[in-house]
Amino acid sequence: MTSSAERPGTDHGSDTGHDHDHDRVIDEALTRLGLDAKTRLLAGQDLWTLPALPEIGLGSLVMSDGPVGVRGTAWAPGDASLTLPSPTALAATWDPDLAHRTGRVLAQEAHRKGVHLLLGPTINLHRSPLGGRHFETYSEDPLLTARIGAGYVTGLQESGIGATPKHFVANDAETERFTVDNLICERALRELYLAPFEEIVAAARPWALMSAYNSVNGSSMTEHRRLQVGVLREEWGFDGAVVSDWLAARHTERAIEGGLDIAMPGPQTVFGAALAKAVREGRVAEETVDTAVRHVLRLAARAGLLEGAAPAVPAQLRPEPLDGRAVAREIAARSFVLLRNEQNLLPLAPRPGGTLALIGHPAREARALGGGSATVFPAHVVSPLDGLRDALPDGTTLTYAAGADIRDGLGRPDEGFELRAVLRDSAGTVLGEEPVVLGRARWQAGSLPGGADFDAVDSVELTGTFTPPSGGTHRFGTSGLGAFRLTVGGTVLFDGVHEPDSRDPMEALTGRPVPRGAVELSAGEPVRVSLVAGDPKMQYGDLRGVVFSLAHNAAGHEDDRLIEEAVLTASAADTAIVVVATTEAVESEGFDRTSLRLPGRQDELVARVAAANPRTVVVVNAGSPVEMPWREDVAAVLLTWFPGQEGGAALADVLLGRTEPGGRLPTTWPARLQDAPVTRVTPEDGVLPYDEDVFIGYRAWQRQRALPAYPFGHGLGYTEWTYDSIGTDGGTVHVQLTNTGDRQGRETVQLYASPAEPDPRRPARWLVGFTPVTAAPGETVRAEITLARRAFQIWDTAASRWTTVPGRYHLHAARNATASRGPATTVEITG
Ligand code: BGC
Repeated sequence: MTSSAERPGTDHGSDTGHDHDHDRVIDEALTRLGLDAKTRLLAGQDLWTLPALPEIGLGSLVMSDGPVGVRGTAWAPGDASLTLPSPTALAATWDPDLAHRTGRVLAQEAHRKGVHLLLGPTINLHRSPLGGRHFETYSEDPLLTARIGAGYVTGLQESGIGATPKHFVANDAETERFTVDNLICERALRELYLAPFEEIVAAARPWALMSAYNSVNGSSMTEHRRLQVGVLREEWGFDGAVVSDWLAARHTERAIEGGLDIAMPGPQTVFGAALAKAVREGRVAEETVDTAVRHVLRLAARAGLLEGAAPAVPAQLRPEPLDGRAVAREIAARSFVLLRNEQNLLPLAPRPGGTLALIGHPAREARALGGGSATVFPAHVVSPLDGLRDALPDGTTLTYAAGADIRDGLGRPDEGFELRAVLRDSAGTVLGEEPVVLGRARWQAGSLPGGADFDAVDSVELTGTFTPPSGGTHRFGTSGLGAFRLTVGGTVLFDGVHEPDSRDPMEALTGRPVPRGAVELSAGEPVRVSLVAGDPKMQYGDLRGVVFSLAHNAAGHEDDRLIEEAVLTASAADTAIVVVATTEAVESEGFDRTSLRLPGRQDELVARVAAANPRTVVVVNAGSPVEMPWREDVAAVLLTWFPGQEGGAALADVLLGRTEPGGRLPTTWPARLQDAPVTRVTPEDGVLPYDEDVFIGYRAWQRQRALPAYPFGHGLGYTEWTYDSIGTDGGTVHVQLTNTGDRQGRETVQLYASPAEPDPRRPARWLVGFTPVTAAPGETVRAEITLARRAFQIWDTAASRWTTVPGRYHLHAARNATASRGPATTVEITG
């Protein structure tokens, strides 16, 4: 029926028509700016904005995280954002057009919130499944990452909002992220880690790029002249602005000479006054500053903030608005990967009078998104329970059992807590107070509760009651830095100081909670809780605020009863659906994972439910790989990632067959952590060698004995396909395939290349293109796939250039990276 060639992103993001005009206005503006104004423009004036310069008619540029929503400048639940599925989910759609619509929807959000530049997409690679921000990045494959990223950037920018692909480059793990020196050979850098940045710069012309915290081969990325100027600007022609990751710029001369344009956040940074001083003292040439200012003014001009320069996309030329909730639901359903479906249990056909059992804490408290700076606050979340309840036909009964508490680490205090924050001065006088949710104290200096004066604040107390929903051992902890005194029910659990244990200045914001002790409590009997922060003020330069929280965990003691209850619920139903998940203590920012195990007793829960009901479907709500020791013992496994705010509705769509699960794995799924070929994320003496060279993900799995649980590219649908034939026509490959099932279907046709003569320098096979097709039952369709421009090239380090490796190659149309069936053709490539 339909078949579309893959698109690396159109040229919509380009504003070539305006560039000439912009250059003239920018040059003219530059002549009217003094050194102090110029250097001020290169530094944040606060957490998220650049200063306005009225003397040249320049408005203030506003930035916001990304990438699953637009958080805006407040980091608060009151400022809600449309919350889309995790980046791993978007990549699992293998659909650049959907990524393009994602960008458009996010641009609408940005316009609504007064944001000009979105800090995303995150296009680092899945080097190891332990990477803490794995959920926030796309794939282990650079081509898939590039195609999804280019679609996203194009969608944003054609709607007049700038994109900031990040983090340039090789921020692939979190351990010691501020200081780690990643040692990466030039081939791996070019062929893997730089490749998505390169293709996105070429295809979508991003207005900005974010420079990473880490070092690469001895130089901090914010100071990396060879990569930021030599490669990015001179080789690739990047003409946008390079913005630092937050607090990543550490040295005035080295950063400006190294190609950094904007130091964030501000106002106290290595640019601004420090840069003006360096120029006055002859340490930096003023022309170097001018170059950076030009980049920033170009960014501002594109965003419509510079008087006299037409914006890249005038308001009247923005594309038609899309329905954000509908797009969120569509991405979710299209991203779900059906890993296993014995005897076609899915889609479900609930019988009148039948019963469906839904099991699992996350079925009610859905985990819609990952943690860290990617956090946004959805206005609502459709849980699996809400979604199924709404969708099931009359006459079908839905039963629910929580199963087991999933938090085996400390989490946010929720049920049973009533807490308020009380801010006091040194005399103990109350300066302001406010109720808090989830035990979290988090304000910027200018917006403290009750308008309290930041300078006068001496202590902040989180105080109130906790009425335990269940009796037994309750564990408590703290996150944040400094002196704390924690008292629960009259017992002092901690009275001491938490010093930062890493050199990550963002630890107060992103660090894991620290356990402080446990108390035995009785169900329904309230106790007083008090957490006093004795030096509550976080201050990095002029970035000032209060950030700490209480953590709690009551898991465990109820689990035996909850699991029994779940087993009974499952055995009384026609079908059991168990939702399992990771928590924010597992997938977040600022730390890596140490295990791929599901937290709590979820593995046991699944095994017990599956033993009680052979029609058990497991829904895996995680942003990155988890071990699933029970996977062969259950009828179906559906991976839903972090599915965003409409996840539960999409889940009902897929389980009931209104939508086919369209996802294909963007990353190899190991059966056990120890099988994974690349697991090292911890530096030694500050250095992390990428010893595996160009062999990560499926490229590495192909070389070793252990097989993954599911290969890269794997994913079932609700119909069957035969791959009939393959042919080439210049740089285009045609694949003919037939929908042999009995319902309309969508297939992602993947094309892999492999050298006919094994070449030890290269992987056994690699992805060179892909495209979706749809077909009616019985219909034969033709997929057209344009070969990636680097399909037969490697980076020649000695000659410092790309080179085509001549010889015969097999081109294999396959359903995943390891599938051996499917048509193949051989092509002869000349050098
Ligand atoms: C993250 C960036 C993010 C920035 C601002 C940093 O910690 O690495 O991805 O954009 O914070 O929140």
